[in-house]
Amino acid sequence: MAKILVTGGTGYIGSHTVIELIKAGYEPIIVDNLCNSKELVLDRIKEISGVRPKFYKVDVCDENKMREIFKNEKFNDIIHFAGLKSVAESVKYPELYQSNNIGSSKVLLKLMKEFGVHNIVFSSSATVYGTPKKVPLKEDDPVGGCTNPYGQTKLDIECLLKDYAKENKDANIAILRYFNPIGAHKSGLIGEDPQGIPNNLMPYVTQVAVGKREKLSVFGDDYNTPDGTCIRDYIHVVDLAKGHLAALNKLKEKPGLVIYNLGTGKGTSVLELVHAFESANNIKIPFEIAGRRPGDVPENYADVSKANKELHWKAEFNIEDSCRDSWNWQKKNPKGYEE
Ligand code: NAD
Ligand code: UFG
Repeated sequence: MAKILVTGGTGYIGSHTVIELIKAGYEPIIVDNLCNSKELVLDRIKEISGVRPKFYKVDVCDENKMREIFKNEKFNDIIHFAGLKSVAESVKYPELYQSNNIGSSKVLLKLMKEFGVHNIVFSSSATVYGTPKKVPLKEDDPVGGCTNPYGQTKLDIECLLKDYAKENKDANIAILRYFNPIGAHKSGLIGEDPQGIPNNLMPYVTQVAVGKREKLSVFGDDYNTPDGTCIRDYIHVVDLAKGHLAALNKLKEKPGLVIYNLGTGKGTSVLELVHAFESANNIKIPFEIAGRRPGDVPENYADVSKANKELHWKAEFNIEDSCRDSWNWQKKNPKGYEE
């Protein structure tokens, strides 16, 4: 079985990807410092897949501990999910975001060189496109103009990876720019478990549905979009997870550095998402129109033709499926992962 290092593997996207890796015959080795996830996730992964993955509670920024893991485990591939991801928190603590996100990536690259590990898949974000001049977004559209320190760390790491690929001709790197992941594994055993008040739309909606929050605030209905609310490309997390398997297969072709958008290619407005949730689950979501949230771009969705063609991958779930699965997770786990 091929060992693969999965940093951030107990997190939302990481845990779903670990399931797909196990299904595909990989042996995932998870490294996570649990700053935004719980060890209980490992039991849930076992319930779904029959395998409790090997786990190191280690900070990826800790070079010495990571060196020991590289020495002991001898893997050929890495998926690097570990990172802090709150836009609002990054505005408050930019240095923390830089040291954690960029620092952890630098440690991995240094050790990859030291141990001759060539393949890495990196979790980037549509945020690197800043405020798009046109949609859908293509991989060679301009990047930059990030509106927050979190987004800037993703762009900085993309640059580090590009420089590394230039210097190291045997490196194979897939930069995956995720659009908006939602949904959960169909079992309802794993899902998104934000700490405190959710920043993102779907977990907020599910917490309203479960009665934890009174109503949703829709941030702005005066954008230049058909119903005035912002448009995003919501992708089911299981589709996203499968995109990583497709990217790993691509790396076996030794392509050097490649970049792919992972989305559905379809834009959905905030109100459309709320209505899709209501009709998929037969639940009313009370909402009010509130002011715009600073930094939000009006419209953002992916051109996914490059990933479809070169990765032979395509998102299969639609927005109703995602709404159903998000709700299934939330209703089975009204308080998230409680140990
Ligand atoms: P998550 O917070 O659920 O998972 C990230 C995991 O990384 C957590 O388990 C956390 O404990 C761990 N972690 C953070 N810093 C670490 C460190 N220094 N050492 C070890 N572990 C560390 O987030 P997610 O939604 O699963 O996101 C995974 C990746 O995808 C992140 O890099 C994120 O920036 C990126 N991404 C997420 C989204 C999204 O909307 N969820 C969109 C685009 C990109
Ligand atoms: N929204 C609301 N009410 C809420 C939460 C969100 O109306 O309570 C709206 C937002 O204004 C936005 C849309 O729902 O129009 C989606 O918001 P999210 O916060 O769910 O997602 P974003 O597109 O703003 O952010 C996501 C990731 C970020 C990433 C960004 C760009 O969460 O990490 O995409 O890729 F930086």
